[in-house]
Formats: sequence, C-alpha cells, structure tokens
Amino acid sequence: MKKALTYASYLRLDELLSLQEPLSEGPEHDEMLFIVIHQVYELWFKEVLHELDYVDRLLADGDRPRMLHTMKRVLTILKVLVSQLDILETMTPLEFMSFRSRLEAASGFQSYQFRELEFLLGVKDELAIRRFQEGSTGRRALEKRYGERTVWDAFLQFLHGAGYSLSPETLGRDVTHSVEPSAEVQEVLLEVYRNDPEVAAVCERLVDLDEGIQEWRYRHVKMVERTIGVKRGTGGSSGSEFLHTTLNRPVFPDLWAIRARL
Ligand code: HEM
Repeated sequence: MKKALTYASYLRLDELLSLQEPLSEGPEHDEMLFIVIHQVYELWFKEVLHELDYVDRLLADGDRPRMLHTMKRVLTILKVLVSQLDILETMTPLEFMSFRSRLEAASGFQSYQFRELEFLLGVKDELAIRRFQEGSTGRRALEKRYGERTVWDAFLQFLHGAGYSLSPETLGRDVTHSVEPSAEVQEVLLEVYRNDPEVAAVCERLVDLDEGIQEWRYRHVKMVERTIGVKRGTGGSSGSEFLHTTLNRPVFPDLWAIRARL
C-alpha cells in the first residue's frame, strides 16, 4: 500500500535537515548559522530564478498584469534576501575566524545560481563559466543560460509588441553579450515614460529589481568589511576591494540613463 503523504515526506525533511554538516572541531557554535544562511540563500536563488524565467516568458508574450504580479513576488523575496544579511552580522569577526580556515577555497564566488541570475538578467561573462569544472551541474546550468535570451531581451520584445519601433539589430542582438547602453532604446523609453504609464509601470518594476540587486551587493560588501576587514577572500580575490568594483553597475543601464532627461 502507498504510504500516506505527510508534512515530512512531502518536504523531504529528513534529507533536508541532514544537510547541515559543520566541518570545525567541536563543532564551533557559529558554523551552523553560516551553513544554514547560505543554504537558505541558495533556496531563494532557486525560487527567484524560477519566477524570473516566468517573467521572461510573460514579457515576451506581452502579459503585463501577470508580469507585474510575478515581479511583486520577486521583489518581496529580494527584500528578504537583503534583510537576511542582518542575521549574519550578529556573527563577530572572531566567531567567523573560529571556523573560516575550514572553508579552504570555497566562496560565494562559486555560487552558480548567483551567476545564473546575472546571466538571466543580462550580465554575461564567458569566464564565469570556465571557473566551473566541465560536466558539473553549475557548468551545465551556466552553459545553457549563456546562449539563452535575457530578461532585457524579453523586455525589448515586450516594447516591440506594445507598438514601439525598435531596429532588427536591437531586437536580434547577440544574447551572449552583456546588455550595453543603447541610444535607440533610450529614445523609446523616454517616449514610454512621457506618454504611456502602463508600460512605464513595467519599466519601474525592472528598476526596482536592478536597485534591489545593487542594494544586496552593497549590504554584502559592508558585511564583508565588518567581518574580515581588508583580508583576502577565500575564493582568491582581494576581498572587499574586489567587491567594491561590482557596486554601482546597473544591469539595465538604459533605464537609469534616461532619468536625467525626464
Ligand atoms: C561571513 C560572511 C561572508 C563573507 C566574509 C563573505 C566574503 C566574500 C568575499 C571576500 C567575496 C569575494 C570573492 C572571494 O574572494 O571569496 C564574496 C563573494 C560573494 N559572496 Fe560572500 N561572504 C559572506 C557571506 C555571503 C552570503 C551569506 C552569501 C549569500 C549567498 C554570499 C554570496 C556571495 C556571492 C554571490 C559572491 C560573488 C559576488 C560577485 O562576484 O559579484 N556571501 N564573499
């Protein structure tokens, strides 16, 4: 007879709760928090990718109401992702140092879902793929996303479907390249913001998303500074110095560029 479904069996709780394995001697008290918070992040990254893949399809199909509804969910999750850093900031530098050496060269740098998120939004970098071992889950996921349309491309499609004229070069741009500022798109966006509040509302949700990611980067680097100061990262970078170079780099540059002209 088939076993009755339970809360634990549906959520595979026994497996899920056996996945937190501290490596330090003792183990050190704070390593549990460190593992749990990273695992929670990865679960939310999974959900955000799931929702943004949907947003991408809704944009390309021109389904504005459902796109806005789904974006509200994504943006709410993003707020949680940013505020979760407060929890990690309750860990002092000494508490982190008690187990940091156990991390060896492991680092958030190697979060393939974070790179997938960047790829999906339009930040493409072939080098990021090569950092993952050939045939690994991360490498395959990134290789797939690299050749796929980005949310920005779906948005351009959406503008086109809403009656805005965009050149075949812009609509058919090489999706393996990062999104670059475009004078042509900026002219269209100015027209949208001046005359078309319904389409402008879609633009504003993309700005929220972009700003939310930049906010996460800023809060992450501040947390890194207060936890390890100017020490190098376990992933081999210069640490906070490197992370500073990733700040203030919007994923949708055209949506920011037009503000000075409105
Ligand atoms: C004590 C806590 C943390 C410290 C000290 C820390 C430190 C660092 C450092 C130094 C880097 C630069 C790469 C390197 O050389 O390692 C980095 C990158 C990164 N970390 Fe963290 N991190 C912490 C927590 C987290 C958490 C909770 C997440 C959530 C997933 C995270 C996600 C990332 C990501 C995605 C990158 C790559 C950023 C990019 O390349 O733009 N980190 N982290």
